[in-house]
Amino acid sequence: MLFIKGNREQGNGVSIVLANRAQARTTLEKLPLFTEKAYINGKWTEATSRKSFDIFGADKYSHEKIGSCPEMGEEDVVSAISSAQRAFKSFQHTHPKARAKLLRKWYNLMMQYRNELATILMYENGRPLSGALQEIDYAAAFLDWFAGEAERSYGYSAQGSIPGNRFVTVAQPVGVVGILTPWNFPSAMITRKIAGAIAAGCSVVIKPAAETPYSALALAKLAEQAGLPEGVMNIVTTNKNVSSVGKVMTTHDDVKKISFTGSTGVGKLLMQQASSTLKKCSFELGGNAPYIVFDDADLSLVMQGLLAGKFRGSGQTCVSPNRIYVQAGIYDKFIDTFKKETQAQIRPGPLENADTTLGCLITPKAVSKLTNLVADAQSKGAKVVLGGERAPDAAETFYPATILKDMTSNMEASNTELFGPVATIYRFEAEAEVIEAANRSPVGLAGYVYTQDVARAWRTAEALEVGMTGINTGIVSDPYAPFGGIKQSGFGREGGRHGIEEFQIQKTITMGGLGMPLTPL
Ligand code: SIN
Repeated sequence: MLFIKGNREQGNGVSIVLANRAQARTTLEKLPLFTEKAYINGKWTEATSRKSFDIFGADKYSHEKIGSCPEMGEEDVVSAISSAQRAFKSFQHTHPKARAKLLRKWYNLMMQYRNELATILMYENGRPLSGALQEIDYAAAFLDWFAGEAERSYGYSAQGSIPGNRFVTVAQPVGVVGILTPWNFPSAMITRKIAGAIAAGCSVVIKPAAETPYSALALAKLAEQAGLPEGVMNIVTTNKNVSSVGKVMTTHDDVKKISFTGSTGVGKLLMQQASSTLKKCSFELGGNAPYIVFDDADLSLVMQGLLAGKFRGSGQTCVSPNRIYVQAGIYDKFIDTFKKETQAQIRPGPLENADTTLGCLITPKAVSKLTNLVADAQSKGAKVVLGGERAPDAAETFYPATILKDMTSNMEASNTELFGPVATIYRFEAEAEVIEAANRSPVGLAGYVYTQDVARAWRTAEALEVGMTGINTGIVSDPYAPFGGIKQSGFGREGGRHGIEEFQIQKTITMGGLGMPLTPL
């Protein structure tokens, strides 16, 4: 086993122990859902070029691989699109009830293989088992939700402006969907998109993140068992050819919709490419979530939301509290309580241990980014309350739970999505001041407000320039609710009532010559 010490002075005194590389590989190899092949037209396949790329797991202390996947290129993605297009011709006409049944069966299989799916996710992503299991439940819930939505796909009817005409609108599947997903939720970002697409009657080509392809492939194995017809779900794996594969997906005539979760920069490029054939797009991009705590807040709710939101996935989520604004009257008490709660509840340790709550970051580069942001903040006056320094013998991908106070808007961290377990605290005096500060960002995904004053809660929630606001809660992600941002956090909604609409077009059918009598007034 590989032992890596946490920071005993500032951390919670628990050494982090990561899985042994050989153990990760040996465990993965034994899992029936683990595969190192891509999936096109219902076949498990290599790349046409026969090339492959390496995947580094949670235990990349010395950057050794836990497996490989086909390094696919343009010809493979073209073949996946053709397969999806062929499948779409018949899949679009399947009865919504049949699609609902299929999604439910897939959901049940996910529950049956919950531990296996979580183990794959844990090793490729670096989440501790507890967090990986939470993600599997979250991911599966999208299949369940969209199973219901498949049958609730409404158009409407009305009288036209032309006397004797009537029209109805009919929701139809948009066609082949190109799906590009990130590494931070290797399972949930796949199901959130594909379940909506399948419920609508679309077929898909998925390019999972190069860092975490195994969860997507494991889900495809279960989809196969659930009876998903061949060609409806295709998975193209690639690392080096990400740009050219993405370009084919965003420019191919047969792809009618692009659904992307990832960075704002990549989103802009994909949108530019997708404009060549005017594809329907939904983009869920970066955030810089304000987390506002007023003097009258219920501190236990504040802590519950902050610990859950800030350290979920080691802080690598787009909705993670990125700027924590605390009103002056409660500032010192908040910091003391937050430090104690973090020390008590955020536990690094062996990923497989049920009580480990802090895992690894995705790459050593993510650690360097945090190291630089923390150094920049300190150089401009921020004070370290907890963590802030990695033990010299820590794993390359480990960063300790860190709290910085006295943050100011001139620090790089205030304009950067931290994507790590670093909590940055800003002091404020007045409501207008904090709204102004919170909205001073080009992105707007999630925001949070804590107060017991109902009027202030509503005012703040509506004033925040974000797609989702949590009032007295740190969790806004729910398959039942629409998820998505505004400003440069993207557009489109996933989950909730609008989730299925993203994969549909509303066709208007007008019927004339009805000879309806019109009585003059
Ligand atoms: C994300 O970080 O992209 C998604 C977060 C969530 O679904 O909660």
